[in-house]
Parts: sequence; C-alpha cells; structure tokens
Amino acid sequence: MRILVTGSEGMLAGDLIPILAQGHDCYGENKAALDITDAGSVFKAVEGYRPDVVINCAAYTSVDLAETQRDLAMLVNGIGVQNLALACNAYGVPLCQISTDYVFDGSKGAPYTPFDNTCPINFYGESKLAGECYVRWIARRFYIIRTSWLYGGRGNNFVKTMLRLSTQRDEVRVVNDQIGSPTSTVSLARAIKVIIESGRYGVYHVTDQTDGRLSWYDFACEIMPLVGSRTRVIPITTDEYPTAARRPVYSVLDMTATRLSVDYIPLMWDVALAEHIDDIRREILNEAALKA
Ligand SMILES: NC(=O)c1ccc[n+]([C@@H]2O[C@H](COP(=O)([O-])OP(=O)(O)OC[C@H]3O[C@@H](n4cnc5c(N)ncnc54)[C@H](OP(=O)(O)O)[C@@H]3O)[C@@H](O)[C@H]2O)c1
Repeated sequence: MRILVTGSEGMLAGDLIPILAQGHDCYGENKAALDITDAGSVFKAVEGYRPDVVINCAAYTSVDLAETQRDLAMLVNGIGVQNLALACNAYGVPLCQISTDYVFDGSKGAPYTPFDNTCPINFYGESKLAGECYVRWIARRFYIIRTSWLYGGRGNNFVKTMLRLSTQRDEVRVVNDQIGSPTSTVSLARAIKVIIESGRYGVYHVTDQTDGRLSWYDFACEIMPLVGSRTRVIPITTDEYPTAARRPVYSVLDMTATRLSVDYIPLMWDVALAEHIDDIRREILNEAALKA
C-alpha cells in the first residue's frame, strides 16, 4: 500500500513510519510541509501522493494549554481533520484518524467500548471529538483508533518525565486516583498496521493491556526500579495536583471488539514498558559508542 502519514515529526509517527515501511511505501509529511489546517495543501498532498490510505498523526496535544488556546486546538483537531476527510473523499481514499480516551468523561467506572457515548470534560477532548465527528460525517471509508496514556521515544510523555525526575529527586508525588491504560507508541503502531491492512473500517480501541485498575502512581512505581532508580513514589490525589484541564477518573478502553475484529493481541503494559526502557538503554549505549 501507499500510505501518507501527517504530523510525521510527532511522537507516534516516529515509530509508526518505520513500522509501516516494513511492507508498505510510507510517506511522512511534517507540519512545515503539510499543515492540515490549510485545505489547499491537504488537497494537493492527497492528489499528489494518491495514497491507498491517509493516517492522521497531526494533532494539537497540549491538554492543559488547550483550555486557553481553544481556537487553535479546534482548528487543528477539528477543522484540520475536516480538511483531511474532504480531501480523502475527493480522491476515494480511506482516512485513519487517531483519537483519545479523553472523549469520555470517566464516570462509567468500567472499560469504555467503541459503542459507548462520548462526553469530554476538557477542551482537548472536545476538539478531538470534533475531529471524530467530521470523520464520521464526511469520510466514506474510515478508521478511528482511540488510544490512551501514550509514550514513546520522541516528545514529552509521562515515562520521560519520570526518567528525568528519577535522576533529580529523592521522591516524586504521583496521582493515584486516575485509572487508565498506558500505551507504547510501538504497540500502537503495530496495531495501526494490522488495522489498516484489514480493510475492516470502524472505530477501534487500542492500548496496552492492564487489569483495568492501573493508576499513574502504579505506572510510576513500575518505571523507577526498571531504570535502577531509588526515587520514592508517593501517591497523591487529583485534588492535590491541580491542572488547568480536568481528566477523566476512569478511562480504560475496552479492546474486546478490536481483538475480535482484527488479528491483534495487545501486549501487557509492563512488558511493553520494559521493551521501551530496553530500547532507551540501547540508544544511550549506541550514542556513547559513537562518541568514544
Ligand atoms: N500523547 C498522548 O498521551 C495521547 C493519548 C491519546 C491519544 N493521542 C493522540 O495520538 C495522536 C498522536 O499523538 P502524539 O503524542 O504523537 O502527538 P505529538 O507528539 O504532539 O505529535 C503531533 C504532531 O502534529 C504536528 N502538528 C501540530 N499541528 C499541526 C498542523 N496544523 N498540521 C500538521 N501537523 C501538525 C505537531 O507539530 P508541532 O509539535 O511542531 O506542533 C507534531 O509533530 C494524536 O492524535 C493524539 O491526539 C495522544
């Protein structure tokens, strides 16, 4: 397949493009080359590449800043996706949109299925829901793939923050009353590949597998010993760590339909995390070897 990936310099795209390139012709466009908020550029890119599928990894992802930069968040996550859906339709191309657990309010208290009602409680979630709506309203063939608590080699993410703090502090305070599922960008990239190869259009939930009771605190407790740190992790409540944007207290995504629809078995979250930490170690060793 010929695959066009937008937002190619982002965290997910960093692992997605090389994984898709194993077996496909994959072309990445960064924000400078293809700004999805510019309808003309989007149409030109889809016309130029004539891909078999477009995967949208471009997004506005600053959850707290989105509360004050509402227009920008909506422009990128809503209207940008509208542009992509219109262009994909014009050239008969399926669109794969990456979305988030933050389209849910977290009040269900049980894993969310793709068939549950959405109800975001922060503006980032609202803007991502707008993107989902445009895809459903416009695109004739689409995949919407929701994921959560994403981490990878590029960009800012929770694992990177913990790694940094593990060398700077004796203790870190981490929220223990928000429950969700971490997802490594490598796991998600593997799942995206399987889903777009399946031709089975629809809404998918993809995360690494947990027991449905994992908090940010539990996640941090696993990271510290894996990186050989003695930094103590102290559990705190959301009230003790105020942020501009509210977060759902429970946003585990149910993957039953994904498992039954396509040939993808999620990795356990701790196995995916250990693989990621090993990758980081290998990179550090390689860099040191190059410098020596
Ligand atoms: N990170 C998470 O925890 C998480 C959780 C659930 C779902 N997701 C979803 O997963 C997807 C990938 O996220 P990610 O973490 O890889 O995000 P990311 O690292 O922030 O990457 C997004 C990329 O899009 C680019 N971009 C921003 N505005 C653009 C525009 N107008 N046109 C083209 N490109 C633009 C960004 O460039 P600049 O950096 O230069 O602005 C960045 O390179 C997103 O849809 C996100 O909503 C993420």
